[in-house]
Amino acid sequence: MPATKSDFRQFLDQVRPAVDQALEQALSASALPGVPANLQQPMAYALLGNGKRVRPALCLLAAEAHGGDSAVAMPAALACEMIHAYSLIHDDLPCMDDDDLRRGRPTVHVKFSEATAVLAGDALQTLAFQTLASQEHGSLAAAQVQTLARAAGPAGMVGGQQLDMDAEGQTPDLEAILQLHGAKTGALLNASLRLGAISAGADSQIWHGYAESVGRLFQITDDIIDATSTTAELGKTAGKDSTAGKATVVAALGLEGARALAASEVQAALAALDEIAPSRRYDELADLPRFLGTRST
Ligand code: IPE
Ligand code: IPE
Ligand code: MG
Ligand code: MG
Ligand code: MG
Repeated sequence: MPATKSDFRQFLDQVRPAVDQALEQALSASALPGVPANLQQPMAYALLGNGKRVRPALCLLAAEAHGGDSAVAMPAALACEMIHAYSLIHDDLPCMDDDDLRRGRPTVHVKFSEATAVLAGDALQTLAFQTLASQEHGSLAAAQVQTLARAAGPAGMVGGQQLDMDAEGQTPDLEAILQLHGAKTGALLNASLRLGAISAGADSQIWHGYAESVGRLFQITDDIIDATSTTAELGKTAGKDSTAGKATVVAALGLEGARALAASEVQAALAALDEIAPSRRYDELADLPRFLGTRST
């Protein structure tokens, strides 16, 4: 019997064609004239590759949960994926995680060059903010720019990446690890939900608790699958965290402890979702924690 697709997986499959088409359009020569081909190619390679598109899906889900229009939320969904793609290009650089493989293909610095990878990441970051700022609705754009800048910046993802580098070879306690993960990974997932809510004119603060658990779950699972999957399954080099001495929940608690913490975050996310009481898309939002806790790539 074929496996039944979960509600969140179905939503991902449903929105992916429109998201991918809009990402492609955002990089097209008509939308972005004058880009050197040697920069356009690595940007497209990183942005249009085979990622899961979890962040755009979260943004669109939150918008729809408040009765908003996914077309209005689309620029924000694209901006979140652009920041994500940039963060992965830089995360893989030799001076950071030094990874050769991502999504089953050579990383951007391996395929192109290190200098080009730095510049393609820079370019995708600025394009994310250009995409938000170019929206017709000025006050919506300003609120989204501020929220995404905070999440991606020094007190968010970039700050988390600094903490991640500082913690290599150290044994921080669980609280410090969760803080580091909340910044490097959680902040952008949180912003994806909040940008969607903002696009629907809703109070984005109410997503805080749900987003925090979703962010933790995302990185706990990333650390578990790094330790338990094969390189072929992951599309990135397996077992890298332990060889690099990364501060992971698996290193702090062991595999069983990490799985138990993930299970408790699923429950916390569901409790937080009940507080939000979304008028639409409840099933997809309720399925997301289970999806993130059991994903294999
Ligand atoms: C991987 O993110 C990086 C982390 C934040 C742990 P994803 O697992 O969402 O990567 P893609 O986009 O699907 O490749
Ligand atoms: C990446 O965390 C977080 C960001 C890119 C900001 P990881 O370093 O664990 O992600 P992977 O495992 O390389 O995808
Ligand atoms: Mg990293
Ligand atoms: Mg990495
Ligand atoms: Mg990882």
